[in-house]
Amino acid sequence: MKNKAPLKIMSIFGTRPEAIKMAPVVKKLEETEGIESIVCVTAQHREMLDQVLDLFEISPKYDLNIMKSGQTLNEITSRALIGLQKVLSDERPHMVLVHGDTTTTFVGALAAFYEKIKVGHVEAGLRSGNMYSPYPEEMNRSLTGTLSNLHFAPTKGNEENLLREGMNKENIIRTGNTVIDALLEVVKPDYKFEIDILNEIDYKNKKVILLTAHRRENLGSPMENIFTAIKEVVTKNEGVEVVFPLHLNPKVRAIAYRILEDVPRVHMIEPLDYEPFANLQSRAYMILTDSGGIQEEAPALGKPVLVLRTETERPEAVEAGTAKIAGIEKEKIFKLTDELINNKEEYNKMANAVNPYGDGKASERIVTAIKEYFGEE
Ligand code: UD1
Ligand code: UDP
Repeated sequence: MKNKAPLKIMSIFGTRPEAIKMAPVVKKLEETEGIESIVCVTAQHREMLDQVLDLFEISPKYDLNIMKSGQTLNEITSRALIGLQKVLSDERPHMVLVHGDTTTTFVGALAAFYEKIKVGHVEAGLRSGNMYSPYPEEMNRSLTGTLSNLHFAPTKGNEENLLREGMNKENIIRTGNTVIDALLEVVKPDYKFEIDILNEIDYKNKKVILLTAHRRENLGSPMENIFTAIKEVVTKNEGVEVVFPLHLNPKVRAIAYRILEDVPRVHMIEPLDYEPFANLQSRAYMILTDSGGIQEEAPALGKPVLVLRTETERPEAVEAGTAKIAGIEKEKIFKLTDELINNKEEYNKMANAVNPYGDGKASERIVTAIKEYFGEE
């Protein structure tokens, strides 16, 4: 690159999964000559975000610190939008990068658009086709797509979704998912946990189910159904242990404690840092989750996943045979989980390491595409 002012790229994120998946991009931006990388966090999440910032040694230049306990969507939206206005008008980056589908994502793109700053959308083009599920993420990602100048689509299917919506082919770059870049960095066969119970569990002789649940549309009776199904699975199958790192959302915690507290062999623990969580995934027998990111990580680790939702915007793992949509009804969740525990053939069919989400080089492709977009290569 010639001797001129660097390209200023601002990454805006706010929650745990955005931080995990943007960390490799930030690292790549930082080491690229001719780019000035700036990080602004809304801190829509606080503790769960800070865990990731510490792990990847990312120091944001701006921290809007917006999180409040039990926050509403309107509160997150308005606090982030107001905070970002000043940051963006002071810094005036060449491009803002946002990730995925949270409220921070949508608001980051909107605030940049208001300042007429270009937007790059990492993890673009995922669609469930149902505007209320996941809620509000399906709408967030679709609106973010409309506001974006560059779309970094993890898979071919994501790219096709964007083309179908009329996005310009030249502005869509298929990259793989940056989650694989992050995962490959932290999973180690000899990893030792800091929490005693995770070292004490006999992963060889027990069937360890890793459970997570947090989606807004699952709060209430779907989550009650999920936890009741788990309780029945554990009660029926003595060789099963459940590890459930609880999300910090007080609404999730209340339902979880009501149904699962004191159930033998259900270990409810605090949210794990990314490194132990990724290593726990790699040791678990199977995973039950309503998370987006975990649906992408588990197949790469060869772990069967039952998706605790009615549909998914990540059909690749289902097509590859490592994930099944278990839904939110107690009977079906129980039946599919029990089957994977007791039917070795069914289990083996699903326990194949496949990786439809990338080769670990997504961040590199993203940074190269940004430079090309600004005529730097
Ligand atoms: C948010 C995202 C969701 C993403 C999820 C990842 C939106 C609308 N939702 O959902 O897309 O899948 O993050 O986990 O953008 N809390 C803490 N400390 C934390 C984090 C959360 O105490 O570090 C508690 C707070 O009481 C907070 C509540 O959890 O109000 C909910 O957080 P919020 O970001 O609104 O929703 P999530 O369900 O985490
Ligand atoms: N994760 C973590 N600790 C936990 C649970 C999850 O580090 O206790 C990681 C997980 O590996 C994945 C990401 O957080 O990379 C997923 O976040 P979450 O399920 O909160 O959000 P989603 O992906 O559904 O938006």
